[in-house]
Amino acid sequence: MSTAFDNVTVGRHTLRNRVVMAPMTRSRAHGPGASPTELMATYYAQRAGAGLIVTEGVQPSAIGQGYLATPGLHSAEQVAGWRRVTDAVHERNGVIFAQLMHVGRIAHPDNTGLAPVGASAVPAAGTIFTPTGPQEHPTPEPLDAEGIRATIADFVAAARNAVDAGFDGVELHGANGYLLHQFLSTNANRRDDEYGGDVAGRIRLVVEVATAVAEAIGADRVGLRISPANPFNDIVEDGHRETYLALVDALAPLGLAYLHVAEGADTEFTPVLRRRWSGVLILNPYTPDGWTGPEALKLIEGGDADLISYGALFLANPDLPRRLAEGGPFNAPDYTTAYGGDHKGYTDYPGLPDDQG
Ligand SMILES: Cc1cc2nc3c(=O)[nH]c(=O)nc-3n(C[C@H](O)[C@H](O)[C@H](O)COP(=O)(O)O)c2cc1C
Repeated sequence: MSTAFDNVTVGRHTLRNRVVMAPMTRSRAHGPGASPTELMATYYAQRAGAGLIVTEGVQPSAIGQGYLATPGLHSAEQVAGWRRVTDAVHERNGVIFAQLMHVGRIAHPDNTGLAPVGASAVPAAGTIFTPTGPQEHPTPEPLDAEGIRATIADFVAAARNAVDAGFDGVELHGANGYLLHQFLSTNANRRDDEYGGDVAGRIRLVVEVATAVAEAIGADRVGLRISPANPFNDIVEDGHRETYLALVDALAPLGLAYLHVAEGADTEFTPVLRRRWSGVLILNPYTPDGWTGPEALKLIEGGDADLISYGALFLANPDLPRRLAEGGPFNAPDYTTAYGGDHKGYTDYPGLPDDQG
């Protein structure tokens, strides 16, 4: 039986514990050209005690950006900014993957100056925050064959940039209603070419991106995040079990570093996926009434997951693994400072007093 504080091998790394910092957009990339700042380096370094840090969503291209002040990995400035972050985390013996997040239709020209793209010309219900306040999501321009090739190339280039910036790997964001999830879905993807229609069509883009990125930087440096049947960002997935079982079967030969499951309401599907996927599984448990708490670590002992990822509690507790090991106490997150702003609610959550004197 493994516990949360046993080592685990993920790709090329032996992690010191099984507590993962879940990816969290914080919208503080105020460096030139959407590049990371010294403040971001401090924030991630504070959390380097995680077995693995997965960064906030990082756009692989300008068109992949949705929200304000999110960082990219498609320019020299951004690579240099991320280098400060990865150096700071490595100085504290941390391991850090960049989450590559292309938002697809969850975007707005007022934030990027660009018309959003998607699987099909189907807008997401709901609004996105822009400099003039919340606005409805526009109808995206469907990616044509050339656009799909360019998108895959952008993921590959960003993954190479991530390695150049000192990251230990990348996590492909296939969850929460962004571009890759839009292709997996049955409502945002209405295509009748080989990237839509049946299950084989809807999983194709994710498999092609994962394959291309794995070829470029090594499969052992590539993870994938999925969120089966999560309706966030106006996603509908009819027959989600069939879709995700086909997806993990198609990915199995690649030998990816891990699968990161952001669990949805169909919690009974998680053990099914667990049995089907022979690789490392990171679980972010379904917690509709709050956030993932210390009790989730029992899922490792029970064999339901190899690692557990924490969002809210890691946001508020820079030394979360130590607090979990010692049974708390835990700072509560303040969601009013989650997105945008300065160090307040970002780098000023206190750690436990250092009892080493
Ligand atoms: C402020 C904030 C930002 C988030 N941004 C991302 C993101 O960029 N990418 C992603 O995959 N999930 C994102 N999430 C979801 C978290 O990774 C996680 O799945 C969610 O918070 C549930 O886990 P928890 O109960 O431990 O908080 C975000 C969550 C929060 C609270």
